[in-house]
Amino acid sequence: ARTAAVIPAAGRGVRLGPGAPKALRMLGGTPMLIHAVRAMSASRAVSLVVVVAPPDDVAGVRALLDEYPVPDRTEVLVVPGGATRRESVRRGLDALPDRVTTVLVHDAARPLVPVDTVDAVVEAVRDGGAAAVVPAMPLADTVKEVEPAGDGAPEPVLGTPERARLRAVQTPQGFDRATLVRAHAEVTGEVTDDAGMVERLGVRVVAVPGHEEAFKVTRPLDLVLAEAVLARRRV
Ligand code: CTP
Ligand code: MG
Repeated sequence: ARTAAVIPAAGRGVRLGPGAPKALRMLGGTPMLIHAVRAMSASRAVSLVVVVAPPDDVAGVRALLDEYPVPDRTEVLVVPGGATRRESVRRGLDALPDRVTTVLVHDAARPLVPVDTVDAVVEAVRDGGAAAVVPAMPLADTVKEVEPAGDGAPEPVLGTPERARLRAVQTPQGFDRATLVRAHAEVTGEVTDDAGMVERLGVRVVAVPGHEEAFKVTRPLDLVLAEAVLARRRV
């Protein structure tokens, strides 16, 4: 009863190309957002889901949630999002009732995360004594740091971090609620995930194993992969 999931779903999905807001696109005949809500709701620990909707489409998202029901034991709230992901997450946090002590933040754009990954994150926050937990994957590609040039111009390579020490992080990221709220209030500057803001507070963040099916749907090819994963689940 004390763990809630905030689902930022207010982005346009510019990199996916023209069409409806990304979270409302269909995957295997069901909107991506509904997959994401069900993925959170599948965890016994999660009793509340806060969907952060495109600000001009809050009514549409509410209607969708009536059309595609989620299990009864999960309460679902819908709030309007903001201009950035960070602002959208903050609005979701603002909507949480007092009783919530543990918060998951999960991208609607990661509709296929398995419940075992969700449970592992929840467990690490609740029992592991870490105020922030991220699911993370080893990298297949070698990563270079470059001096960005833009326009496809050659970019000077500055270095190659040791790949074995790098991880690609996914969601849901799990937090002690008070710590995440403080991070959103106090941390300024460019941060690309919620755990990164907690790191800036000087609070310890830990990584647990992520899952390849928790990939983010970002570009058109990712939709092809997502459809294939769903088709494989159905056999
Ligand atoms: N998000 C949000 N509010 C924003 C921007 C993003 O709630 N103002 C959400 C997206 O809906 C998505 C998650 O943050 O679920 C991760 O963002 P991303 O994958 O970048 O989605 P978009 O911002 O929609 O895509 P793009 O950057 O290609 O426009
Ligand atoms: Mg974006």
